[in-house]
Amino acid sequence: MQKTKIIIINGPNLNLLGKREPEIYGASSFEEFFTKLQNKNPELQLEYYQSNIEGKLVSKIQQAEGQFNGILLNAAAYTHTSVAIHDAIGAITVPVVEIHISNIYKREEFRHKSIISSKCVGMISGLGLRGYQLGLEYFRNK
Ligand code: DQA
Repeated sequence: MQKTKIIIINGPNLNLLGKREPEIYGASSFEEFFTKLQNKNPELQLEYYQSNIEGKLVSKIQQAEGQFNGILLNAAAYTHTSVAIHDAIGAITVPVVEIHISNIYKREEFRHKSIISSKCVGMISGLGLRGYQLGLEYFRNK
């Protein structure tokens, strides 16, 4: 049987995880954490992509159609600004789970609005990096 294929797409500044505001985002780099995720989820085929550039994120989301069974998307700051990412999620049939490491509702007001949520199956926010594992469990049990 073919493995369920999930792509994790991270947006701007998440390449700095481990160095960036560790009191909010933790001390682990995503690469380190991704290896753990792969070891914990051998029945899933996982891919990881990160970009600081909005258009590249849009292209990656578009290209997931027909290639992946699900997307975990942490659009980072673009969550709050990007109509283009909202539209890209709406343009594909692959289900997208929105992930945030921090609780966006506990932070500055400009983070309280997610433009992309209305196109996602659901959102996990505020549970740290564990949110990615919980998102994978959603797809595993789907
Ligand atoms: C974030 C929350 C966003 O508001 C912020 O711009 C990020 C990361 C999170 O994972 O908590 O870069 O998406």
